Amino acid sequence: MDQILVRGNGPLNGQIAIAGAKNAALTLMPATLLTDQPLTLTNAPRLSDIATMTQLLRSLGSEVASLADGKVLAMSSAAITNHTADYDIVRKMRASILVLGPMLARDGHAIVSLPGGCAIGARPVDLHLKALEAMGAEMDLREGYVHAKAAGGRLKGAVYEFPFVSVGATENALMAATLARGTVVLKNAAREPEIVDLAQCLRRMGAQIEGEGTSTITIQGVDSLGGATHPVVTDRIELGTYMLIPAFTGGTVECLGGRLELVAAFAEKLDEAGLSVSQTAAGIQVTRGGGDMRAVNVRTEPFPGFPTDLQAQMMAALCTAQGVSVLEETIFENRFMHAPELLRMGAKIDVHGGTATVTGVKNLRGARVMATDLRASVSLILAGLAAEGETVVSRVYHLDRGYERVEEKLRALGAQIERIKE
Ligand code: UD1
Repeated sequence: MDQILVRGNGPLNGQIAIAGAKNAALTLMPATLLTDQPLTLTNAPRLSDIATMTQLLRSLGSEVASLADGKVLAMSSAAITNHTADYDIVRKMRASILVLGPMLARDGHAIVSLPGGCAIGARPVDLHLKALEAMGAEMDLREGYVHAKAAGGRLKGAVYEFPFVSVGATENALMAATLARGTVVLKNAAREPEIVDLAQCLRRMGAQIEGEGTSTITIQGVDSLGGATHPVVTDRIELGTYMLIPAFTGGTVECLGGRLELVAAFAEKLDEAGLSVSQTAAGIQVTRGGGDMRAVNVRTEPFPGFPTDLQAQMMAALCTAQGVSVLEETIFENRFMHAPELLRMGAKIDVHGGTATVTGVKNLRGARVMATDLRASVSLILAGLAAEGETVVSRVYHLDRGYERVEEKLRALGAQIERIKE
């Protein structure tokens, strides 16, 4: 397994291009299953999760071509030739569950392996299933697989209120509803930019949707959808991750393609911590002047709140801030696995349940650390940029799931970072 070696070497400066959103692409790709016409995504990120989704879609009968060095995904699903999403693919990536709604909506039946548990908590899919049941699906769980059938062969109109906000469940329900007979109203829906992006793509395909970006989405089902070409929205998590670089190293970094409305709650915290954040014509610029970072308190929330996917990176940045910061994780249980690794680098962190208290220390020191999940792994690399000496991060396959060419991007800013192939 590859490792990443980082040496702290002072301020980093320059521009960094932000890719299309992983989490948007992973829901836009299954939308190909809703139509027999071609669906093309531009601004796609080059990530191993995209390769996994490609493999899954091909197993169902879709054609997926990766063009323009992976930035364009040309998909076509003339017919779904296999309606079973196999355990061997689903276990690699939870987002695989997103093929369920589209297959069920188009052909009235689907079998999908239940995604297993995952390092950041139990993460069930019950809300995905309940929303589809409200639209008339019958669900049967057998030997680890969900067997879903639409009564009468087609999903129907419904009003469904999510008991709490779920991004994935909203996406599955939204895709399924586009082909329902009648009107589907989704209440307490997720409002993430990736949902808005999905709704825009579906509308290009001919879907009738209103209210995306608010907590009530109304979908008027249509008989069929057509093809479209759609650009994937900017990755706000990659954006937020790289906006934090000056917190670790000092200097000025401009994140190309960034827009403040994608990361408003996060940018406010950076400002409170003493970084200066501004929108430029090309993106978002972040500078750390002379002073130290100041401690801030953070509570993760669904969008538009502070994203759980930026919590690990923020915690790493606060390790050397002046004062005591309290981070509260409200979305996932067990999402502080980066804390013990940061302790190995000299950080002072106390974790109690869903709350972590970080007492700022003067410096971090390089160490051998292990990545436990996607966001944790990048937080350790960032910490390594600030640490004295050498940091070696192992198990970086997590990183390749969600960050495109990370060493290349950081090296262009002047970072000393290399991949050790094994
Ligand atoms: C998506 C993102 C992930 C991000 C998360 C929260 C993708 C591919 N992944 O994940 O990066 O961290 O949103 O912003 O887009 N839950 C249930 N039952 C369900 C579904 C969810 O109990 O059926 C719970 C989860 O365990 C969690 C909470 O709801 O506690 C939020 O999860 P959800 O928003 O669904 O996250 P994902 O869609 O899995």
